[in-house]
Amino acid sequence: MHGRRLAMTDNIVCLTAQPHAGALDHLESWTTTHGIGLTVREVGEDVREADFEGGRETLGISVGGDGTFLEGIQAFAPRRVPLLGINTGTLAFLARIDPRDIDSALTETLRGRATVYDRQQFSVTTAGLDAVGINDVTIEPQPPERPVDRKICRLHVFVDEEYVGQYDGSGLAINTPTGSTGIALSAGGPIHYPNDNFTLQITPLHTHRMGVRPMVVSESTEITVVPDSEVRLSVDGGRYQTVVDRDEPVQVTGSDYRAHVVRTSYDDSFMGALAAKLGWGLRTVDSEPPEGYLPEREPPEDFLANACRVAREAAISAGEPVRELHGQVEQVEAKSSKADIVTEADHQSDRIIATAIENEFPTHGIRSEESGRRGGDSPYTWVVDPIDGTGNFAHGNPNYSIAIALLDGENTPVVGVVYAPETEEMFYAIRDDGAYRNGTPIAPTTRDRLDESMLLSGYDPDGEFLQAFYQETRGVRRLGSAALHLCFVAAGSADALWEYDTNPWDVAAGICILREAGGRATDADGVEYALSLADERERPRMPLLASNGPLHDALLDHLADENL
Ligand code: IPD
Ligand code: CA
Ligand code: CA
Repeated sequence: MHGRRLAMTDNIVCLTAQPHAGALDHLESWTTTHGIGLTVREVGEDVREADFEGGRETLGISVGGDGTFLEGIQAFAPRRVPLLGINTGTLAFLARIDPRDIDSALTETLRGRATVYDRQQFSVTTAGLDAVGINDVTIEPQPPERPVDRKICRLHVFVDEEYVGQYDGSGLAINTPTGSTGIALSAGGPIHYPNDNFTLQITPLHTHRMGVRPMVVSESTEITVVPDSEVRLSVDGGRYQTVVDRDEPVQVTGSDYRAHVVRTSYDDSFMGALAAKLGWGLRTVDSEPPEGYLPEREPPEDFLANACRVAREAAISAGEPVRELHGQVEQVEAKSSKADIVTEADHQSDRIIATAIENEFPTHGIRSEESGRRGGDSPYTWVVDPIDGTGNFAHGNPNYSIAIALLDGENTPVVGVVYAPETEEMFYAIRDDGAYRNGTPIAPTTRDRLDESMLLSGYDPDGEFLQAFYQETRGVRRLGSAALHLCFVAAGSADALWEYDTNPWDVAAGICILREAGGRATDADGVEYALSLADERERPRMPLLASNGPLHDALLDHLADENL
């Protein structure tokens, strides 16, 4: 989940252990000022479905210590709601924001500037128990009935199909990286840096063999533990508990869903928390690294680089709900014709992109296919197509994209971003800085002969382009997203494309990318294509012929011969 998506938050559900008047008052007055819904639930009270209903974008908050945070994970992670932890406890590794920083941390989050980290969870199943946890599952011997009875247990452990061996001792903990600072650390470590670390660890507890050490496996590994005697099993410090019979297998593997943890600049750092709370022997709380040891900071981004980064982040954030709705669209609304449609996903994407732009560039104008135009004091205008290829999207076809461009005062595109959520391809360009796909420079083909070329066609109402070029070339494909078509030509997977008429949001971002890659975009007469922000009804038809460059003259000649 991308932090920019949190700018859409309109609902907060707060879970609290011991009501902390200061923190809750802050939260209440902040949510009222910002017009955001707030529901407060006490630990032990059910967090209800109604707290999340109505298509709201919810942020979970825990007020308490790590115990409350873990309750929050149980309540919010299955609903894919991100969680921010306010620490009113003492020893907290998960809830890390001081109550005095609530306002600032929430403001940062609602500006879309917080980071959301995915945390590994595990699922554990055995007779009578099917649970999910984020810290650890411990398997320990039952207390002996008589002092002379056996006090240890023997556990047989398998990873996938392989037999690891027998663990004799006080049992085992199977922990995630998040759980590596609890029981696992007392039992011999190691500490895992928990962010985006998707592993599981098998940690022996008081083993009776010198050589037995913790072992790390991947999140998809099936860990099976078979006890030789009756044992106690406990998940996340007792949130779930059961007794497991002799020979009854316990299965542990990575959970299907991860927890989403929100981190702001007001959270204390993980290493700082280790030093402060566990007396981490490698540094003191405020230790600075020796000079010259940290990699040099990147120089501050210039305006266009920053604009391009914000646009890429907005596109990735918008892609999340869009991907979730792909192929499940029931409600399609027709606009000007049965082929001109819009879905709930177009609106969600539009809101996320507009919010990100308004937060970062409040003086810029915005022109969006779905929400019209908003003026600004600055000469810059953002041109947004929240989903290009909505027809494909609504029918479950992966060829659709999100297109965002920044135009300067002369309507020249100076930043272009086209993101394909299904393939996670990110095309982008900044004027005079080249064009890229997922960080790698792209370039068009060098073909200059029609009979060797592969063309793309977009809107071609009477099929004239198809008829004129199909026999002359290696083929004419129609994939259904003008923005992606332009990127395919820019990246060399087609040689040219044609659109009988275009709107600025269909092509602004793609044209920026194509031109930066070295391709050409003109009208049907070979005049450089000029974007127009005039009202659709007041502008003339805007045909687009775009190509790798070398093929352009042959295309123009053939267009003229065919009278197109
Ligand atoms: C459409 C697509 C299509 C193009 C149409 C556009 P939409 O955009 O880009 O490829 O040929 O002219 O309207 O409506 O899916 O955003
Ligand atoms: Ca479009
Ligand atoms: Ca669209």
